[in-house]
Amino acid sequence: MPITSPALLHSHATSFGFKEVPEEEKSRMVGDVFSSVASKYDIMNDIMSVGLHRLWKDRLVSKLSPFPGMQHLDVAGGTGDIAFRVLEAIHSLERQRISGVAVDEDAEDETRVFICDINPAMLDVGRRRAIAKGLGEARSLIWMEGDAEALKFEDASMDGYTIAFGIRNVTHIEKALSEAYRVLRRGGRFLCLELSHVDIPGFRDLYDFYSFSVIPSVGEIVAGDRESYQYLVESIRKFPSQEKFATMIKEAGFEKVEYENLAGGVVAIHSGFKL
Ligand SMILES: C[S@@+](CC[C@H](N)C(=O)[O-])C[C@H]1O[C@@H](n2cnc3c(N)ncnc32)[C@H](O)[C@@H]1O
Repeated sequence: MPITSPALLHSHATSFGFKEVPEEEKSRMVGDVFSSVASKYDIMNDIMSVGLHRLWKDRLVSKLSPFPGMQHLDVAGGTGDIAFRVLEAIHSLERQRISGVAVDEDAEDETRVFICDINPAMLDVGRRRAIAKGLGEARSLIWMEGDAEALKFEDASMDGYTIAFGIRNVTHIEKALSEAYRVLRRGGRFLCLELSHVDIPGFRDLYDFYSFSVIPSVGEIVAGDRESYQYLVESIRKFPSQEKFATMIKEAGFEKVEYENLAGGVVAIHSGFKL
């Protein structure tokens, strides 16, 4: 049963999980969710996905094919999980250079990976993890507070754009896509990793049971926060299907749009190029 607040009578409504809320409130409510779960975010990810989120993120970054000198933007990237992988991929090219494969050293100095997230608590988690990895002083990593819907970057300034488990949370997905398109250079690639829709009978029932019965309970036990994890599973069901989301990406101007389902559609990686 949708819950309707009196404010909705005067404002556009949007979904916050299965609830309808005024558009201007969604961002604050999503902010509350991530401020609440930030400290337990990593452990909950490992538990909920039985560690698979690491492989899914590896896959995303392997599709990106990072290169020395790259200007890359990871949006909703608070934990740094994607940014660290992008840098690691570039460092691994550097190690290959040492073992004889030619890599432009000057270009490597120019590498910049920007991590943009709306939530300071999530950025703090990422910064602490960077320090633990010995990347606290890395010039190539730049942490910024910002909104996917209004990026503080110049037009055509990025070679790559990633967003992992983030776009589901933004209020206007179309605005985030159009911002992704704006900041990418011609030839730049958009990649989005997101929880998506399972369409395999039998597996879908199992996945529904796991989502609605197990995840909120685990959230309550491990993170002391059932509601945030209830929002998480509801927001997955409200997110557009793989096909619909691919259409939205095309409508934002991207070309060669395609997607890959992982784990039967539990997650999907969507890709598009600005040509
Ligand atoms: C589920 S976490 C994903 C974090 C990281 N990308 C990962 O894969 O581990 C979602 C992130 O999206 C961020 N977020 C939500 N709305 C946003 C917005 N409008 N602009 C930028 N970041 C946003 C949250 O603060 C949170 O850090």
